Amino acid sequence: MSVNPIVFNNTVLRDGHQSLAATRMRTEQMLPVVELLDGVGFGALETWGGATIDSCLRFLGENPFDRLDALKRLSPKTPHMMLLRGQNIVQYTSFPDDVVSAFVKCSAEHGMDIFRIFDALNDIRNLKTAFRAVKEAGKHAQGVICYTTSPVHTVETFIKLGEELEAIGSDSVCIKDMAGLISPSMSYELVKSLKQRLKVPVVLHTHSTAGMGAASYYAAIEAGVDEVDTSIAPFANGTGQPDTLLMQKMLEQSPRKPSYDVEKLHQLREHFDGVYEELSDFTSPRNERVDSDILIYQVPGGMLSNFRNQLKEQGMADRLEEVMREIPYVREQLGWIPLVTPTSQIVGTQAMLNVKFGRWKMLSQPAMDILLGKYGRTPGRVDAERRKQAERQANQEAIECRPADVLEPRLPALKAELAARQFPDADEVAVLHAMFPQELKKILTRASAPVTPTVTPGKENPAKRSAAVSGTVSRYRLMINGTPYGVSVETLD
Ligand code: CO
Repeated sequence: MSVNPIVFNNTVLRDGHQSLAATRMRTEQMLPVVELLDGVGFGALETWGGATIDSCLRFLGENPFDRLDALKRLSPKTPHMMLLRGQNIVQYTSFPDDVVSAFVKCSAEHGMDIFRIFDALNDIRNLKTAFRAVKEAGKHAQGVICYTTSPVHTVETFIKLGEELEAIGSDSVCIKDMAGLISPSMSYELVKSLKQRLKVPVVLHTHSTAGMGAASYYAAIEAGVDEVDTSIAPFANGTGQPDTLLMQKMLEQSPRKPSYDVEKLHQLREHFDGVYEELSDFTSPRNERVDSDILIYQVPGGMLSNFRNQLKEQGMADRLEEVMREIPYVREQLGWIPLVTPTSQIVGTQAMLNVKFGRWKMLSQPAMDILLGKYGRTPGRVDAERRKQAERQANQEAIECRPADVLEPRLPALKAELAARQFPDADEVAVLHAMFPQELKKILTRASAPVTPTVTPGKENPAKRSAAVSGTVSRYRLMINGTPYGVSVETLD
């Protein structure tokens, strides 16, 4: 067994508030402790990516690159890490290679050090362009194994994926258990095998949603994992990562016990206690407790709570059991895709449609796209009959190639669009324009005016709360762990 102390990466500035406060932490709420965070000696600070870029633009009136600059200035010692959705960048559909490359280049120029790159289907072809761009920028490319459970996902298939990730140039490999589904025994097994077969460091990322997070880390550490991700309470535990102090304490007599300064961790906790209060419009006791439903249904916690709301809106609140039983069937027909944003929503919605209208009487557009190969290669084969149905309805043939191979370069057109509106057309503006055109326009239009935050600290806004929690058809929006999904028709101004 390895006896080097375990390294903790800190997620409080990204996944911590994405999982527990709908990604609403503002830069000004981070700044007072960024130097302190930098001084703890974490392996990395996860500060960007995932839903933070969307949230900055959509809800907080912030330029995400300005946030990165500000954080980087105050924490120059610790490497910064971001979550990148491969060819989807930080959105849910594929972008052309030139846009992906430009995004990576700009992020690297603004100081991003470690790019954690995943694809929802674990289709390695969707990672390659981002990998190439990270390498060209001289930065660290971390390849990701999206963890899920299904008959076609075994320790062996995950190990094989790990080897492929190493072969395409991963500087480290991360097991990303976005749903908190991995058990301690599986963590042990998977880490042990990966450590035997790979040369690069192995990282485990999980969530405490089902109550297994800390125990799974413990088992992974026993098996020799190099790094795990922890957060700072109250932006920890529950739907987030295990708390740093808790995790250190669990390892008290372990030869791999880390020695992060308890006094500093305490100061961080005190600061974030205050921020958690300020964000009370977006926090929920539901996120803080152990959700054992996950263990029964094997679906991400965020997906389940979102789903209850969605069913209520459809007048189907009493049919949850039926819909949940439909999910494994839909997953099988769609090639056993992992349940991670956005595929969790695609499977969930299709299961709901099947129950409501009869199996496959209505095929949702995204489910059709999965069947047509537009997201990439599925882990198992999609059902042949379903594929034919999708081809018929879409009046086009399914593709086998890498989805971005059918996309034309878009950067020049994006820049031309910006220039035509007298907006700046630098690469970093163009890549945001590609992903969030409406939201970016709002920011650019009021760039000269002082930016007003959409939330007043500590002040309850009942209208916004009910929109986020129950929603109505006119304000329809899907939220998974704070990630808005689909087209939002809700106006916040
Ligand atoms: Co996560």
